Amino acid sequence: MKIAFVGKGGSGKTTLSALFVRHLAATGAPVVAVDADINQHLGTALGLDEGQAAALPAMGERLPLIKDYLRGSNPRIASTQTMIKTTPPGEGSRLLRVCENNPVYDACARPVELDGGAVRLMVTGPFTDSDLGVACYHSKTGAVELFLNHLMDGPDEYVVVDMTAGSDSFASGMFTRFDITFLVAEPTRKGVSVYRQYKEYARDFGVVLKVVGDKVWDDADLGFLRAEAGDDLLHAPVVHFHVNYSSMNRRACTTSATGCDAAFASSSTTVEQRRLTAPRTYAVKRPV
Ligand SMILES: Nc1ncnc2c1ncn2[C@@H]1O[C@H](COP(=O)(O)OP(=O)(O)OP(=O)(O)O)[C@@H](O)[C@H]1O
Ligand SMILES: [Mg+2]
Repeated sequence: MKIAFVGKGGSGKTTLSALFVRHLAATGAPVVAVDADINQHLGTALGLDEGQAAALPAMGERLPLIKDYLRGSNPRIASTQTMIKTTPPGEGSRLLRVCENNPVYDACARPVELDGGAVRLMVTGPFTDSDLGVACYHSKTGAVELFLNHLMDGPDEYVVVDMTAGSDSFASGMFTRFDITFLVAEPTRKGVSVYRQYKEYARDFGVVLKVVGDKVWDDADLGFLRAEAGDDLLHAPVVHFHVNYSSMNRRACTTSATGCDAAFASSSTTVEQRRLTAPRTYAVKRPV
């Protein structure tokens, strides 16, 4: 199953992608996690330190190798130069599987140990100064698009992609490649406006879209998301904070999940993350 996390910048795409990957790994499912965001944070969200994350091989820099492997002996693709991100597989092309070893994984994927087992992590690579004016980020996400287009995923195998913010995901055909797209929405007007925009664009392409609420502090936030997203709202855990103003430390004490499935249930990681990030995120609460 191919799954995308999309949403407004800073809404929680990476946090929820990482949580979901951790949940899948804990069930023992095979997982390939892909960081396709221009802001590359999935590695650290999965527990890598900054050095390890920076050392991950960038798919964008390995496009010739990826193309060369995927085109195989397809007579309609004369060279890697003529293969573009939307070139579909055909006779002679090589297909990829979630659970196998192949030169693409050798070059682009690294194992990340999580509770329950290792997942494969692939990253597009950051947009660098040298790309300015000469390359667009979609040339890097093109590597992910080719990967998805050539992937034969079996039941109970997962590819989880942390996508670029906002509607930028629509700048290529990649948004049509997923079995389900989770739109991460904060209970703010901007948060739901990205959802509306996405729903509008996605309508004609059969994109299965579900909204996952994040930074939902109380029932009013939950009601706001329910009113805006209706049946598309899949899940929105309400987070309660105890605020200690004297020390300005805000501590996550309890979490409760409404309409929750296990994937997004509270975990020690999220509580810790909320504790660490509370001062910054508290400020984005929807004004009443
Ligand atoms: N439920 C939550 N409670 C508290 N803080 C959260 C929650 N979800 C996310 N955050 C924090 O909000 C910030 C933004 O989250 P995250 O990086 O996951 O968003 P993003 O959508 O991936 O952002 P970007 O668009 O920059 O890639 C981070 O500091 C993260 O720790
Ligand atoms: Mg992110």
